[in-house]
Formats: sequence, structure tokens, C-alpha cells
Amino acid sequence: MTVIRAALLGFGTVGQGVYEAIKTHQKRLQERLGKKVEIAGVLIRDLRKQRSLPKHILVTDNIEDILAIDDLDIIFEAIVGNEPCYTYLNQAIEKGCHIITANKAMFAQFGTKLLEKAKQHRVQVGFEATTAGGVPIIRTIEQLLQVNKIEKVEAILNGTSNFILSEMRKNKLSFPDALQLAQERGYAEADPTNDIEGIDAFYKLMILSELIYGGQPEWRTVEKQGIRTLTSEKVQLAEQKQKRYKQIASLTKKDGKVLASVKPILVNKAHPLYHVEDVDNAIKLETSLIGTFTLQGPGAGKLPTASAMVEDFIYVLEKDKSIKQQGEVVYS
Ligand code: NAP
Ligand code: HSE
Repeated sequence: MTVIRAALLGFGTVGQGVYEAIKTHQKRLQERLGKKVEIAGVLIRDLRKQRSLPKHILVTDNIEDILAIDDLDIIFEAIVGNEPCYTYLNQAIEKGCHIITANKAMFAQFGTKLLEKAKQHRVQVGFEATTAGGVPIIRTIEQLLQVNKIEKVEAILNGTSNFILSEMRKNKLSFPDALQLAQERGYAEADPTNDIEGIDAFYKLMILSELIYGGQPEWRTVEKQGIRTLTSEKVQLAEQKQKRYKQIASLTKKDGKVLASVKPILVNKAHPLYHVEDVDNAIKLETSLIGTFTLQGPGAGKLPTASAMVEDFIYVLEKDKSIKQQGEVVYS
């Protein structure tokens, strides 16, 4: 049986999740691909940390070692921030590797450039894990855009914020205690500022904007408000009035202009996002043919995010196979 060789950039919450998912689902992957999937290398930052990885896997802090792996087919990227990540993915594409990323901060800014570059080099890009964790929102939107028009999006796109608000309401935790719990569970970013200030949800909203409307509003024009000002008292008071605070990311297009915002909003029981709890994300889409529907599921964490990445893995390889079967004309 031939082998598909993959490398992981990052071995934190998400990288370990991808490693575990490939290990525990190897049989299913082999049945689907007709090939064994092998993790050949792992890039990390701190070589002194203990990693529970078998000896045959190359563990390095140098991207050149990863790019030098013979017959490397695909790279899973789960590191943090724009750089050096964007540079590494450019190098991977130039080497002819498919790439799958979970890095929304980088992808919101450089996604279009990476997709363009990947097209030139005839490789594929998977970015399902950048937005809403395990919820297959990217693929759903790609599917819908064949015919439907998406008129409006209202979404909970940050698992950490939703988790904090739920814990403050249900278990009466203070904001810092709820945040600490989100960090312990691997939901929050290494620096959680972007989670609680609405920036993480904003990046995801920009990725959706690019996908749905083919562009993004000017970033500085988008209202971004976090949940930091929401005290337990405010959350409890809302509960007494049968209302809940939800950090809602909204997106629509009016008179040819994309309008977007991220802010906490008080919703009542009738709102589809009212019942979205814990680390769940949910995306309410208003479309021209289906009407309105909502997708909901775990929006952060090790295995839900890994799920999005390994599903992308199959998607990317099958897309590549199908394009190659159709011939050169697809890339013209
Ligand atoms: P994490 O637990 O902090 O892990 C980050 C990993 O990247 C670590 O292994 C770290 O190395 C490595 N790393 C960081 N900077 C590096 C660099 N310059 N060169 C090489 N390695 C580097 O982060 P995470 O939660 O897994 O998140 C990873 C990415 O996925 C982020 O972009 C995040 O936004 C995104 N994401 C996270 C989730 C989630 O639920 N956590 C969900 C969706 C998307 P060391 O181990 O040596 O420190
Ligand atoms: N920190 C992010 C969140 C991870 O809490 O939603 C998933 O992108």
C-alpha cells in the first residue's frame, strides 16, 4: 500500500488533535484513500518540551527540515499568528504541498493570496477549521453558493466568549474564572485577548465575507466589541428578564456595500442563537431559496477542530484527484 506523507506545523491543542484523529481513524482514512497516512514530521517552537511522539517522527524547530522531507504531500498548519506562518505556507505551496490551516488570524488577511498562489502551483488549500471549529460552515456555504444567494449571516463565532457567558449565567462563575476554565479546556487562544475582545470572531467573519461576497469591508470600519464589560450581575439581570447576552457577528450586503459587526447583543427566547450554549458556535444563514436555517456545533477544542482538518484532508485530496483527471484546462 502506498503512503500519503503529511507534516504538522504546531503540536499544541489543534496539532495534537490532528495527530490523534489520524491515529485513531487510520483505518477509515485508508479505506477512503486506498493509502496509509503517515505523519512524517512535526514543527514546534520549543525543542525542550516533552512530546509523546514515536521516534521515527521528525520533531524540529526548523521549517527547512520539514520542507526537506521526501515526497511530502500535505501540511497541516496549526501555529499562531501571521508570521512566520504565512511565509511557511508559501514555501510549502512552492514545494508542491497541499495545505490545511486552522489559523484564522492569518487566513483572514492572507487567504486570498494563498488561494491564488495555490492555484498557480496546482495544489489545494483547506481552511474549514479557521471558522466555527468543527461546524462545517465553509463547505456548506461553498455548496449553497452554486445557486442560492446568501443575504444575511448572524453568528456566534467564538467558542471561548460563548462558553464564558454560559458559565457566568448557568454556574455563576466570575469572568476570570470562566476564562480560566476555557483556557484549561483548550478553547481560548494562547493570548485570549482576541477571544474576549471580538477580534477572533471578526477574523472568522472576514473569512465568511470573502467567501460569500468575494471581498471584505475595510477592517477599520467594522464595529468590534468584546464581552469584557459584561459582568455576572448584568448577565444574571438579563436572565431574570428571560434574555441572554450573545456575542453576535453579523454580515450582509446593502447597496453594493458589505456591512459587518461583532458585538454582544441581548436576545430573547425566540432568537435562534438564544439556546446556543457552552463552547458551541452557530451560524444563521438567510438565503434566497432555502430561507433561513442555522448550523450549530462545537466551535473550538482539540477534536472538533481536528475533525474539520481531517475532513479537509479528504476533501483536498479528492479535489486534487478530480482536477488532475479532468486535465490541464481547469487551471487555465
Ligand atoms: P497552541 O495550543 O498554543 O499550540 C500552538 C503550537 O504551535 C505549539 O505547538 C507551538 O510550539 C507551535 N508554534 C507556535 N509558534 C510557532 C512558530 N513560530 N514556529 C513553530 N511552531 C510554533 O495553539 P492551538 O490552540 O493549537 O491553536 C493553533 C492554531 O489553530 C491557532 O492559529 C488558533 O487560532 C487555531 N485554532 C485553534 C482552535 C482551538 O480550539 N484551540 C480552534 C480553531 C483554530 P510549542 O509547542 O513548542 O510551544
Ligand atoms: N479561540 C477560538 C474560539 C478557537 O474560542 O472560538 C476556535 O477558533
